[in-house]
Amino acid sequence: MTVSNAALERAAELRLEIAFHNRQYHTLDDPKISDAAFDALMQELLRLEEEFPELLIATSPTSKVGGGLNKAFSEVRHERPMLSLENAFSREDIEDFWRRLQQKLGDDEITLVAEPKLDGLAVSLIYDDGHLVRAATRGDGETGEDITNNILTIGDIPHQLGGAGWPAHLEIRGEVFMPRAGFKRLNERALAAGEKTFANPRNAAAGSLRQIDSRVTQERPLSFYCYGQGAYPSEALPSRHSQLLEELRRWGIPINPEILLVTSIEGCLSFYEDLMKRRPDLAYDIDGVVYKVDLFADRDRLGSIARAPRWAIAHKFPAEEALTRLISIDVQVGRTGALTPVARLEPVFVGGVTVTNATLHNAEEIQRKDIRVGDQVVVRRAGDVIPEIARSLPDQRPPSSIPFEMPSHCPICRHFASRKAIDIDGLGEKLIDQLLERHLIETVADLYQLTPSVLSTLDRLGEKSSQNLLKALDKSRHTTLPRFLFALGIREVGEVTGRLLAEHFRNLEDLMAADQATLEAIPDIGPSVARHIMTFFQQPHNLEVIRKLLDNGVFWDPLPERPPIEELPLAGKIFVVTGTLEHFTRDQASEAITALGGKVTSSVSKKTDYVVTGRDPGSKATKALDLGIDLLQEEDFIHLLKG
Ligand code: IVH
Repeated sequence: MTVSNAALERAAELRLEIAFHNRQYHTLDDPKISDAAFDALMQELLRLEEEFPELLIATSPTSKVGGGLNKAFSEVRHERPMLSLENAFSREDIEDFWRRLQQKLGDDEITLVAEPKLDGLAVSLIYDDGHLVRAATRGDGETGEDITNNILTIGDIPHQLGGAGWPAHLEIRGEVFMPRAGFKRLNERALAAGEKTFANPRNAAAGSLRQIDSRVTQERPLSFYCYGQGAYPSEALPSRHSQLLEELRRWGIPINPEILLVTSIEGCLSFYEDLMKRRPDLAYDIDGVVYKVDLFADRDRLGSIARAPRWAIAHKFPAEEALTRLISIDVQVGRTGALTPVARLEPVFVGGVTVTNATLHNAEEIQRKDIRVGDQVVVRRAGDVIPEIARSLPDQRPPSSIPFEMPSHCPICRHFASRKAIDIDGLGEKLIDQLLERHLIETVADLYQLTPSVLSTLDRLGEKSSQNLLKALDKSRHTTLPRFLFALGIREVGEVTGRLLAEHFRNLEDLMAADQATLEAIPDIGPSVARHIMTFFQQPHNLEVIRKLLDNGVFWDPLPERPPIEELPLAGKIFVVTGTLEHFTRDQASEAITALGGKVTSSVSKKTDYVVTGRDPGSKATKALDLGIDLLQEEDFIHLLKG
């Protein structure tokens, strides 16, 4: 197969993008995308290069490890290159890995060492005559940075080897990381001091190791686990990795206690599953597990490919973080009336599930993290924990974006009182604000318990107005089911849908008991409205408010028994109303039409049957004439209604 131009271009594009993110991650400690998104780019490039080997060039990021160097530290050349690991994401990938091992090693039993894959930074430590003499970062795998002074501040790492029998010159390799508790404390302190916080423990560890002033590193809660050797005299090397780790442990080098030997695919997978389950409870972040051939002789037979050894593989966990877009921030009312902001997200696969909602905790949190509607955000779901927004990427937001403003109290009240809802004459926004601020009401139901003496305590409300308000409140008790449903403020349930639901269910109880499928079966109710209705009636706070409203005397006349919609005189007829009618308001005209089975729409189209025309009709009447639709004057309309 020859390389297509598209493949060539895509590979070039991917290499540029990967190089950019490599620098952000490794050199600047400021990643712009999640690890999973980075892995996806790398995987795509690997696949392309596999399909078209002509594409493979020596400078491809697939044949290099890590990023560039930070010039502040002196460079050191590794005695042996520090390799990276190939990644596996599925059971099939692990089966392939075993197959490859068996092909090369034959039928002898293969023992692997299974280890947690710590999410920190690889370092190389050199001990001469038992003394720690040099420490370096991985850098690009060939050359790293000399960070000896900083490594010497980490309490876990012995300056001098204990026990006896160590070779005169040895290099060990392992991961420097920041345990979660220390990370949390560090960020809390940074926050209190008004300093920049770290995105995650890995970045915090990286930032801490790159300090020019070792006294800063010393303050940072860093730990270390050794996972192998670098340059090591062959005569001193035991025959197995597991034995080497034991030996190093005896000399005082920290070795992760979670390490196990496994001898099968199932063994690998159960180690993986077990650790994934315990992942949230571990004291440190891990992003997967590593399986390594135990016998060094077998490793020699397997060798390495460009950037990774054939004798080891990293089995990655589903990413706990993923990038997506924040569509909107909804405010949910809790049982006690407390307001909680909830993020609505473009669906994203994270932590092994598809996430569409995430908690934002409270207004302060949104402000602190500077999260805005429309932002690219990092969603985090660790274990069974509720998904949350870890951070936003403000660099990518449009200049027009505005900070989120949290309503100070339940936004439903204003809507509830409005004319087309429960219609409480004289209860304006200012008055509602006063009532809420003075805690005289908490929910709309409390409005019906207001008394003259309570109202007399309010500013700018005379006795007369107060009497009028109480009268209006009393009058509003007698409402209609469509109005009541609209007044509840269910998301996406406007006037029309309120009426539709009332017509369909005829009573509140049946609507409240309806499941998703029943709701979706109603013409004009889509899955999203259906879900909002269901969710609304599942929230204890809402049920409580409804109960209180009814207890406080809100009622409506039962809807009359009526024949099925198809048998009504205007069934299937589509109306548009335009201009001012003499005997009806617009709402009344609509109600009259729908009561007889007709449907009212707002714009004229070929499907329109009648255009009811009042005084000063607008362009709708002209359009109706163009389309050859009959105009219905008010008398004709009344005639039609009377049948
Ligand atoms: S072995 C040639 N073991 O993962 C094999 N690496 O993606 C070298 N890592 O650079 C690595 N835990 O920073 C190995 N138990 C473990 C590890 C581990 C974390 C990191 C290490 C390495 C990277 C490769």
